[in-house]
Amino acid sequence: MNIIKCVLLFILITSFKLHSEVLVVFGATGDLTKRKLIPALINLYKHHQLDEDFTFIGIGRREISQSQFCDDISNFVSHGDKVIWNEFKEKVIYLQGSFDQDEIYKKLKDRLENKKNFFYLATPQSSFSPIVKKLHSHQLLTDARIIIEKPFGKDLDSARQLQKELYQHLEWKQIYLIDHYLGKEMVNNVLSLRFDNPILNSVWDYQHIDNVEITISEDIGIESRGSFWEETGLLRDMFQSHMMQVLSLIAMDKPISYSESDIRNEKVKILKAIRSFPLDNINNYIVRGQYDSYRKEKDVAANSNVETFVAAKIFIDNERWFNVPFILKAGKKLSKRFAEVVINFKLANQLILRIQPQEEIALVLNVPVPGYVHEVKKEELVFSLREKYQDSIREAYERLLGQALKDDHTSFVCCDEHLLTWGLFTPILNHWAQNPPSNFPNYMSGSEGPDLAILKN
Ligand code: BG6
Repeated sequence: MNIIKCVLLFILITSFKLHSEVLVVFGATGDLTKRKLIPALINLYKHHQLDEDFTFIGIGRREISQSQFCDDISNFVSHGDKVIWNEFKEKVIYLQGSFDQDEIYKKLKDRLENKKNFFYLATPQSSFSPIVKKLHSHQLLTDARIIIEKPFGKDLDSARQLQKELYQHLEWKQIYLIDHYLGKEMVNNVLSLRFDNPILNSVWDYQHIDNVEITISEDIGIESRGSFWEETGLLRDMFQSHMMQVLSLIAMDKPISYSESDIRNEKVKILKAIRSFPLDNINNYIVRGQYDSYRKEKDVAANSNVETFVAAKIFIDNERWFNVPFILKAGKKLSKRFAEVVINFKLANQLILRIQPQEEIALVLNVPVPGYVHEVKKEELVFSLREKYQDSIREAYERLLGQALKDDHTSFVCCDEHLLTWGLFTPILNHWAQNPPSNFPNYMSGSEGPDLAILKN
């Protein structure tokens, strides 16, 4: 080989290395890796969405070997994906270590040279800032991206503080703040559905819409997350994040384009226009609940006042939504698992966007019944994305990881957004802390939750 060829080969090899992807997951022995991240990566790999020399590095405190780490994951891989997992696991590395010790960062550095790195912090949020500091002190943050799970902070002050600490070492565009609801197929489609159908857009306002209901109902309880839940509660876990993200997509004005910054600008405008809750009349606007067996869950205090259900009536003070109530509901241990948005039009029609368990769009119309007597019946016309596009529907984490690895922020939460939603709910959290509920637990497992008549006033 002549010298020119050697130089070209060298350039090719080094530049190739520079662009290869490494996803490092801190807290990799937790459930998130097995249940969500690995299945998402397997799908991305299957669809050729990962670099050929993509590497997954899992970091955990547990003293297990790499093959034990992989065996543990194997139990969660679906039957149909076993063959591809066997191929994919060649890309998996497990490093044992403690996040607050330098040792693990040194081990990482040995592996990461010349790579563009993504660090996924699947740890309790108290570790976010210490991990970032360590990564910085080991010079691992240049050109890196950090992916963080919600909740980001536990109120407005702590979110600001965390943000300040991260900003000391990172720019906002290096941070990917995950709200997995934004990765769900139907949530992802809301803007296109609204704005690519002028007929919908023309009736999307207070003159035509009576109220909007957004519901995330779960039949499971808090499962084994007692300690987490006692510190978090439903308002922080689901309302400040998932519910407000869905609300902002349903309510926002048309963005100039579907670029991440144009979408974010419109979302921020809507979040700013939400009316603050009147603290002197709070019970008419927000209801909290706790399921009957919550206080008997593992790691839960016997007199806990932490909520497992929240319903709220929200108003948006702008021209489009003048006096239209948005009724938001989310809770654990309810009668069934579903998430949906219902647009209740004035005079009878409904548009329902079903997020799960099936992705469906339903239109409720008054349809005349054939016969001698004039009779009109409500009928639902349903279009099921799940049935028609079964194989193309992407799971939330697949979409989100795929976007982050491509450096696309479109489906992630931006700093202004989560500070605005913390700003809305922090007074409620404080008010609740000062005014403990007198009626907890106040709903039965398997029911529809506590009585919400008061919200209708
Ligand atoms: C998570 C919450 O963000 O979302 C959980 O922490 C909740 O408490 C979960 O169960 C619900 O997500 P999904 O996708 O099952 O509706």
